[in-house]
Amino acid sequence: MSALRFSDTISAALADGILVVTIDNAPVNALSADVRAGLMAALDHAEKDGAVAGVVITGAGSTFIGGADIKEFGKPPVEPLLPDVISRIETFAKPVAAAINGAALGGGLEVALACHRRHAAPSAKLGLPEVKLGIVPGAGGTQRLPRLIGIAAAIDVITSGRMVSAAEALKLGIIDSLSSGVPVTEAVADIKTIDSSTLRRTGLLPTPAEAADIIDKAATDALRKARGQRAPSEAVRLVRLAATAPLAEGLAEERRTFIELRDSEEAAALRHVFFAERAAGKVEGLEAVAPRKIETIGIVGTGLMGSGIAVSALNGGYRVIGVEQNPEVAEKGRERIIGLLDKAIQSGRLDAAGREDRVGRLTVTADMQQLSRADIVIEAVFDDLTVKTELFQRLDTIVRCDAILATNTSYLDPDVIAAATAQPERVVGLHFFSPAHIMRLLEVVNCKRTAPDVLVTALALAKRLGKLPIVSGVTEGFIGNSIFSAYRREAEYMLEDGASPQEIDAALEAYGFPMGPFAVFDMAGLEIAWARRKRQAATRDPAERYVVIPDRLCEAGRFGQKTGRGWYAYPDGRRTVDPDVTAMIEAARAEKGIAPKQFTAEEIVARLLKAMTNEGDALLSRGIAARASDIDLVMINGYGFPSSKGGPMFAAGRR
Ligand code: 3HC
Repeated sequence: MSALRFSDTISAALADGILVVTIDNAPVNALSADVRAGLMAALDHAEKDGAVAGVVITGAGSTFIGGADIKEFGKPPVEPLLPDVISRIETFAKPVAAAINGAALGGGLEVALACHRRHAAPSAKLGLPEVKLGIVPGAGGTQRLPRLIGIAAAIDVITSGRMVSAAEALKLGIIDSLSSGVPVTEAVADIKTIDSSTLRRTGLLPTPAEAADIIDKAATDALRKARGQRAPSEAVRLVRLAATAPLAEGLAEERRTFIELRDSEEAAALRHVFFAERAAGKVEGLEAVAPRKIETIGIVGTGLMGSGIAVSALNGGYRVIGVEQNPEVAEKGRERIIGLLDKAIQSGRLDAAGREDRVGRLTVTADMQQLSRADIVIEAVFDDLTVKTELFQRLDTIVRCDAILATNTSYLDPDVIAAATAQPERVVGLHFFSPAHIMRLLEVVNCKRTAPDVLVTALALAKRLGKLPIVSGVTEGFIGNSIFSAYRREAEYMLEDGASPQEIDAALEAYGFPMGPFAVFDMAGLEIAWARRKRQAATRDPAERYVVIPDRLCEAGRFGQKTGRGWYAYPDGRRTVDPDVTAMIEAARAEKGIAPKQFTAEEIVARLLKAMTNEGDALLSRGIAARASDIDLVMINGYGFPSSKGGPMFAAGRR
């Protein structure tokens, strides 16, 4: 084999008359300008060199191609453009095969679709995740995929943006073979058998025959899940076009739509979210710190939160020791955890073997001494300072001296809890969101004395649990609840100033929140915040503006949906404006002599955004949050802020 180089990122070697072209553009072999130019140069070489009978394209490392280079979006285009590289592959006179050694995503799968043969390693994942970035595939994905697998299946794959396993890809017809060994070796052996005069060009295939009602159902399902986002509905339109339009027409329409969406606000916001997620959980200065080894997780408390944390830990492959106050409660906790696993089976997220494996790693006991085997203990007991400090003092004497202690408190000061132990350096906050086995967000609280390797271990653990970890410093409510409190306060001020709960909710829902704040309060219940306000009453600054309306609601027994009445009434479960609430609001305004003013939806959104970003700026200046983008991720993943707006800090910067 003699080595050839076509650009900084493209090299090739001739193997048995086949040119094996390798893309080496770490970290994910994205299709940057240098990759595109190198691929073109390699094809030029293969075309001219009579010793080359065919071409195999593969990726270096564990990825085939991670897609177009997202960092190039927004910059002037550099030739050769990806669609031109892909057309060249499809129309190449000699056979071209893709040896898919790892993830083939977006433009990466589009390159593979244009090849005349596709071989994938069993571990490879394939997909067109463009809709998650607010765009449609822009290099033939919407036109070539349906020609291979049919319109209905293509609608599902493209509008969900999901990763398809290599085994499913074979079943669907996306790939031709699943490699039992090295995909490149098999691709080389296979391509030598192909007759160049009978090359199968995907773009020239007709779409397979399908019943119209199956296509209609796939389209309807996709649009329902899209919840008003533009990219999935455009993708449906483009995939349908593949059935009727010639390839060139379909590709031109796809490209026009791709460019329009790529330059939209929604796509800019989703790109921001993409890079924010990659930055999250990285702590400057701790890159070289190694995490401690975690195999066994102790969880104290197996109620709603503790059982969710237990399932999350079992899903992450850990052994779990749940601890309860007595054997009866422990048995209930075990049943609750197993009940969650059974639910996962019912919804198809888990199979029987996976359930058995998890149950085999689970112990629930009333014997706290068993926590001496744990590498980390997470407490998920009642959020009361005395209860938690006493528990930590006890745990301190039971667990190994190198074990970590984590508190799941949402409002208490973890520094105070840590100070109750002999080794505060081993204490960290792990603020899970409920239901803990479903919600991705996890605030990792870096306490005053948390040791660097304890923080790094907590972050590594979070990643293995499949969570999105965001580091927060210590402040009441950490990042999320601090911003949410500011949001709540401003919503109440606006209520007093003249807006109704339904106007505020409607404005936020039109903006993209699944529910406005007052509907959320009703769903969560009003009594916990009421109890907190009563506790804080003695220390509240009398000069601070205080809105009494939520207290009046609670005094009237209106605790939200569970009592059938809160900010709204719920006859037959339907959210309905209640004249009694309107009267309470008017009375409260009159007591303060406030003349109500009218608010537009735009003003409502602007005021709430401003309240959130003011609080966000304060958190940044105090070092509680490391980056504005961390705040965005917390609000998107924990509080329903629309990802298509990029989070409050990003959205405020675009206004
Ligand atoms: N362009 C530029 N950078 C990318 C990238 C891309 N397509 N995909 C990943 N990266 C970068 C990340 O920002 C990160 O950078 P950092 O180290 O500086 O933070 C680095 O690569 C590693 O990324 P991950 O941490 O996500 O690595 P993983 O190993 O966990 O995952 C992956 C790898 C599955 C490839 C994942 O990165 C991924 O899903 N990438 C995005 C795939 C995608 O959306 N592709 C479509 C792009 S749009 C397109 O192709 C348009 C076309 O139709 C024309």
